Amino acid sequence: MSGLFITMEGADGAGKSTQIEKLKDYLSNKGYDIILCREPGGTVISEAIRTVILNREFTEMGNMTELLLYASARAQLVEEVIRPALEDGKIVICDRFVDSSAVYQGVARGMGSQLVYEVNRYAMGDTVPDITILLDIKGKEGILRKKKQAQLDRMEMESAAFHEKVSDGYRMLAKEHPERIHMIDGTQTIEAIHSQIIEVVDAILDTE
Ligand code: TYD
Repeated sequence: MSGLFITMEGADGAGKSTQIEKLKDYLSNKGYDIILCREPGGTVISEAIRTVILNREFTEMGNMTELLLYASARAQLVEEVIRPALEDGKIVICDRFVDSSAVYQGVARGMGSQLVYEVNRYAMGDTVPDITILLDIKGKEGILRKKKQAQLDRMEMESAAFHEKVSDGYRMLAKEHPERIHMIDGTQTIEAIHSQIIEVVDAILDTE
């Protein structure tokens, strides 16, 4: 039996973590077996790669290096965690996945989505999300939220224009994949967002 692969996407500070926790509780209460993971990270090796990618001091990192590092962290996570969990029939909820690369590296860094998907084909194979929840928030707003919480990492330190490209990139992607990507207004209350997310997820679970 194969499980269900859900990914959560959005600009920095869109509120993904809060919603992932709530979705996990909701689905666990319904009796489903849930595996949570985040990108970049989620395995010992991927977390080690994460510390390199997000290091504030590595301002000289080239775009290609960045793209390949995200893809390497992903390859390890897919092989070690996501694929086995799906083969076991579990529900995997991942905080970011390949769409983050399509938007941050493909659009905001200008590398193009074709190159990004080509590289990532090696990283993820046929392990692609069944549904993706996109929390839509203006790039600038998200960064303002982040600034209140903690020191910004290398990606969050990028310009306001970069973060605007990220939000615009996500909206474009949602239009290109309406069957998979469900865009939800991330400026609503936590509860309002949560009920829209469970509506989407319940609908797909009902058809399984
Ligand atoms: P993280 O702290 O996990 O951000 P957030 O809490 O907003 O999810 O940091 C991940 C950063 O890496 C975030 O700025 C988005 C970026 N990113 C990419 O640029 N490409 C990718 O493929 C992924 C997975 C993340």
